[in-house]
Amino acid sequence: MNATTPRTAIVTGGTRGIGRAVSLQLAREGARVLALYGRNREAAEALEAEARAAGLTIETLRGDLTHPEKFAALVEEIRAKAERIDVLVHCAASGVHRKAAELSAKHVRWTLDINVVAIHELLTALIERMPSGGRIVGITSSGGTRVIPFYSAVGASKGALESLFRHYASELGPRGIAVNLVCPGLVLTDAVDAFPDREARVAKTLEATPSGRLTTPADVAQVVSFLCGPAAAQIIGQTLVVDGGKTLSS
Ligand SMILES: NC(=O)c1ccc[n+]([C@@H]2O[C@H](COP(=O)([O-])OP(=O)(O)OC[C@H]3O[C@@H](n4cnc5c(N)ncnc54)[C@H](OP(=O)(O)O)[C@@H]3O)[C@@H](O)[C@H]2O)c1
Repeated sequence: MNATTPRTAIVTGGTRGIGRAVSLQLAREGARVLALYGRNREAAEALEAEARAAGLTIETLRGDLTHPEKFAALVEEIRAKAERIDVLVHCAASGVHRKAAELSAKHVRWTLDINVVAIHELLTALIERMPSGGRIVGITSSGGTRVIPFYSAVGASKGALESLFRHYASELGPRGIAVNLVCPGLVLTDAVDAFPDREARVAKTLEATPSGRLTTPADVAQVVSFLCGPAAAQIIGQTLVVDGGKTLSS
């Protein structure tokens, strides 16, 4: 790759919410972005149209990361489009919002499948295409280490994701690949609409946030981009919290 070859970035969940902002941010910085998504074709087409109008290179690829055949087809498509992968950001997530004791084993497995197992499988399938200098970023949440009402399944998955990424960071560091996580505060995306206590949670978050505002997708995207850039080369296996100071207080 010479100095003018654009970096190729893969962003899972890259067409909506935080992932969408990450796709746009990396593309604005010159990357060629492959934005993955599961089902919402409308959101994917809207992102492609916005990118085209702005002269950015974002291509969207559809495929349920938890479905074995669709996953395999998606990996083949990625391999055909990207001989080299410089950046991989895992934003895709989903989950069942219930109290822990009300979760079935199926709910827990389903949540772990998309939030944790999918990125492990994607890394296994694609890591050979990532050169020294590569960057991998996961998105976790405070629920990975703290209790949030109705967040037991997703919280468990985020705790697992953080541990998995620390191990990947240790294993891939010697190959020149930096693995890190970003932990946003509450960001108003479609995902938050699924919380049964959305309004109360927004009010409580605002009240407890020293910066006086909620975190935006762009706030998160800029920190992801920092972790993917040369200034962050020596940051390995860390979680950067982007929440306006919300988690400073107990
Ligand atoms: N929003 C917050 O307050 C907040 C706070 C902390 C951390 N986070 C984390 O930030 C990340 C992004 O969250 P968000 O709020 O931006 O989420 P979102 O708006 O709900 O977007 C989720 C994305 O994941 C994709 N996805 C879900 N299931 C999939 C599957 N089985 N296969 C492939 N793609 C799948 C969706 O694709 P479709 O569009 O096709 O459905 C969508 O692009 C997540 O990891 C989340 O846990 C969010």
